[in-house]
Amino acid sequence: MADERVISPSVVEEEDNLSLRPQSLKEYIGQEESKEMLDIYIKAALKRNESLDHVLLYGPPGLGKTTLAQIIANELGTNIQVISGPSIERSGDLAAVLSKLSEGDVLFIDEIHRLPRYVEEVLYSAMEDYVIDIVVGKDSSTRSIRIELPPFTLVGATTRFGDLSAPLRDRFGVVLRLDYYKLTELEAIISRTAAVYETTIDQAALVELASRSRGTPRIANRLFRRVRDFADVRNEGVITLPICNEALAKLGIDKNGLDYTDYRYLKAIINTFKGGPVGVESIAATISEEVSTIEDVYEPYLLQEGYIKRSSRGRIATEKAYKELGIPYYKGLFS
Ligand SMILES: Nc1ncnc2c1ncn2[C@@H]1O[C@H](COP(=O)(O)OP(=O)(O)O)[C@@H](O)[C@H]1O
Ligand SMILES: [Mg+2]
Repeated sequence: MADERVISPSVVEEEDNLSLRPQSLKEYIGQEESKEMLDIYIKAALKRNESLDHVLLYGPPGLGKTTLAQIIANELGTNIQVISGPSIERSGDLAAVLSKLSEGDVLFIDEIHRLPRYVEEVLYSAMEDYVIDIVVGKDSSTRSIRIELPPFTLVGATTRFGDLSAPLRDRFGVVLRLDYYKLTELEAIISRTAAVYETTIDQAALVELASRSRGTPRIANRLFRRVRDFADVRNEGVITLPICNEALAKLGIDKNGLDYTDYRYLKAIINTFKGGPVGVESIAATISEEVSTIEDVYEPYLLQEGYIKRSSRGRIATEKAYKELGIPYYKGLFS
């Protein structure tokens, strides 16, 4: 379900438009603190001719983790190998990837929290001492052989920092959290996207698009493409505020970037559970969604913007949520 939303922060195929991805730290907009740290660590590693310390990037989907991993390799002038946690099922698969790395390479593991634990364990010695021990043979003839690896940099990305085991977390020298983008940063990103697509967008439309992008570059770029379709058909390709508003209304995206999925989620809390507190499992059952989708995809932005609060007894819809949905809020009168 989540992936059918226009404003789903998850990746869909159409979008791996490589020219949209910034290639250097300089081009990468926002995340100033993370950029500054990386810039220093990368320069220091280059100066000392050492491999960069392992880097963990975490934050909600669509904020630029994969982009940043690629940029790290670009800035280091090394190759990058890309794998994803759930695709590595056996420790041998990981060993095969590790043993092909060259000195200084970046190994990017996306969704690193989804690596099976016994695969993860292979990483510990690889990260710490650049060696792996693998078990070969069967039954009585099993023995362990040690493979030396060249110094490399592991870049891990995760949407769920809390799901990472402590031993894995502790082996990253650099841990960076990506945050939702500010409006001005999103405007800059959309403006850059417009330039890549050679599309004219006026300032008012730029501001409007930015404010409906949920702080997320991937969503900003996706909304941009949809609005551009409207502009191409209705307005000779020029994106103006009326075109932007019309397109977003048709897409069912409200003034603040919320869509029917957010409404369904909020209505479940407000109508079915009297505004909460209600446990996420109950909400999941009501709207037929996975708990993990709700936690990783729906909730982070709603929490950040104060539509919901989390308490020890579950989720609570705030007055802001009632307002957004046009439902009268009486809570304050009785409690
Ligand atoms: N800081 C940024 N500046 C410009 N564009 C960005 C930035 N971060 C992300 N993007 C754009 O948003 C899209 C999603 O970023 P991505 O790195 O795939 O996110 P994540 O891996 O965190 O889900 C990219 O295709 C890129 O075009
Ligand atoms: Mg990614």
